[in-house]
Amino acid sequence: MSTRKNPAEPRKILVTSALPYANGSIHLGHLVEYIQTDIWVRFQKMQGNECHYVCADDTHGTPIMLRAEKEGITPEQLINRVWQEHSDDFKAFHVAFDHYGSTNSDETREFAEQIYLKLKATGLIEKRSIEQYYDPVKQMFLPDRFIKGECPKCGAKDQYGDNCEVCGAAYTPAEVKNPYSAVSGAKPELRNSEHYFFKLSAGTCQQFLREWTRSGTLQPEAANKMQEWLGAEGENKLTDWDISRDAPYFGFEIPDAPGKYFYVWLDAPVGYMGSFRQLCDGRIQDSGSGIQESLNFDEYWKQGSDAELYHFIGKDILYFHALFWPAMLQHAGFRTPTKLFAHGFLTVNGEKMSKSRGTFITAKSYVDHIKNTEYLRYYYAAKLNGTMEDLDLNLEDFIAKVNSDLIGKYINIASRCAGFISKRFDGKLGNIDSAATTEFQSAFNSGEIAHCYEQRDFSRALREIMHLADVANQYIAEKKPWELAKHADKDAELHETCSTALTLFRDLTLYLKPILPMLAAQVEAFLNISPLAWNDIWKALPAGHTINTYQHLMTRLDPKLIEAMVAANQESLQPQVQSEQRHAAHQQHTANKEAARAEKEFEPFIDIAEFSKIDLRVARIVNAEHVEGAEKLLKLTLDIGEEKPRTVFAGIKSAYDPEKLKGRMTVMVANLAPRKMKFGMSEGMVLAASGEAPGLFILSPDDGAQPGMRVK
Ligand code: 2FM
Ligand code: ZN
Repeated sequence: MSTRKNPAEPRKILVTSALPYANGSIHLGHLVEYIQTDIWVRFQKMQGNECHYVCADDTHGTPIMLRAEKEGITPEQLINRVWQEHSDDFKAFHVAFDHYGSTNSDETREFAEQIYLKLKATGLIEKRSIEQYYDPVKQMFLPDRFIKGECPKCGAKDQYGDNCEVCGAAYTPAEVKNPYSAVSGAKPELRNSEHYFFKLSAGTCQQFLREWTRSGTLQPEAANKMQEWLGAEGENKLTDWDISRDAPYFGFEIPDAPGKYFYVWLDAPVGYMGSFRQLCDGRIQDSGSGIQESLNFDEYWKQGSDAELYHFIGKDILYFHALFWPAMLQHAGFRTPTKLFAHGFLTVNGEKMSKSRGTFITAKSYVDHIKNTEYLRYYYAAKLNGTMEDLDLNLEDFIAKVNSDLIGKYINIASRCAGFISKRFDGKLGNIDSAATTEFQSAFNSGEIAHCYEQRDFSRALREIMHLADVANQYIAEKKPWELAKHADKDAELHETCSTALTLFRDLTLYLKPILPMLAAQVEAFLNISPLAWNDIWKALPAGHTINTYQHLMTRLDPKLIEAMVAANQESLQPQVQSEQRHAAHQQHTANKEAARAEKEFEPFIDIAEFSKIDLRVARIVNAEHVEGAEKLLKLTLDIGEEKPRTVFAGIKSAYDPEKLKGRMTVMVANLAPRKMKFGMSEGMVLAASGEAPGLFILSPDDGAQPGMRVK
């Protein structure tokens, strides 16, 4: 692991978490990684190691550029706003970066250019002309994700340009049948463009990666994946990596290639370096005032550095971190990561997070409803074991674990004993029951807990710690301080029992501190002690030490808060449910006369601004089917050029055979708020004409209209 020369010296460690994209909110899925990393970093710091934790927003790429355009702001305005939101979320969850930067920084640009120029000088950059889809309406080349069409293997409609969600096939955008642009709906054209490639297929890269991935840098599951990607010895499976994108693009222009930009994944990991550079520069300035020691960038990044470098990542971005990134660093003259720590995905109640189930929960929504973020830190820690397995947040289990373990076993030790010290002994601790503390210390191996933290097996660390809490509770149950308090002649025993219990509580707090930093700070204040470090373990509080009056440290997690949070994440739908019901009742009541009276119910005139509030879109009916138990409804799957098709329940069953609707184009209201209906969520409305005469008629645009085109 560490290559440092003297094991007695503190280790020098640089830690990163993956940089979140600057076009979305931090949610509970992201937090698995940031909480995992933060716990590990806090543990290292408590051990006395010199550990630095940096991260940044990942700000470049087409989606961010398009999102800013959609919001009518510049990409810089968007990324500044999101940076603040992300920073606030991390703070609320006590994720304590030493520096949180942005990839859109001079530092990141300089390192990206430096790496690129070095790779170029080494002969590892190649220019090639490639054929790529171009959106003639939007006038831009389209990333694979922004091309949709029919799967070349199974024919499924509206599949992404790189893989089919129906049959799982992977292909190139050029193979997609009837492609269309997901940005404008236009038919894309194949055009040639010069691109820059990092020659990963070069023998030197392959050779280096084979060695690097076998040197203990990866978890066993990840090392196996790498074997697959690299192929057998002698096999050359790696292909060159396209690192450039054409204008318009939000990113860094390639130094010697006007109009060409670094692909976001080229500069994203370089952001680790950029952010650390900013931390170093800040330290150098501060060191003048003696506040902080200076930090030398090269000591951490130069080739042969004896500092350790760890990247915490999700298993989905292993490819970038285990192949491209070390190869870039190696051939540009920098050190490579010591280890990559990949984790699995989050599920909630055993399923993928889902907006309709209210389990797609943002960090902010959690804070708004539950407030105490250490409940979640505790639960995630109880589930994290350092492997790439997925982690399930079972909401019932979450409540049970917090209330029975955290409160019931740990907090209760203090809440049952602290009052006696304040009321009966003037806040002063007495002697410690050494027999009990000896038993307590022999109940487990404290080196084992450190080992578990080091291995990121927090789940096992917590099991050990909670075992210790059981022993402490058993001691209290045997001594019964509440009984001792009833007898004046048992004062000494009461004093000793409560002092011993609070000492044990202090030790437990020390072990829990990486997971529960705020709670630990409250306990330190209550026990009137300086911040706990790892080697403070088993140092008894001296007799006569004065503690502060006990204040509630943590309350039970109320299941109603969880219910409210889940409901609120579906909340935007609730008013619609009511209006839908009202609307349905109204419709029934007026069914026969409605058409005749329709005109009279309208305002004589509306202005164009009012009309333009309605987002009408051309939609392709990808699928249409009967809905079991519904008399009037058909379930339609509509493609309007978005990433995912919409589901709309339309009352047109009487007029249409679903089979005949498949593939037809129609018009829908795209910005009608989603409505929860008995049969599922309806995400818009298709338009249909009806009158006094029988019949119901959906609309069709003229030939050539593409999904997603606006009707205005
Ligand atoms: O997958 C993601 O969310 C990327 N933004 C992660 C980047 S990690 C690093 F390479 F910057
Ligand atoms: Zn398919």
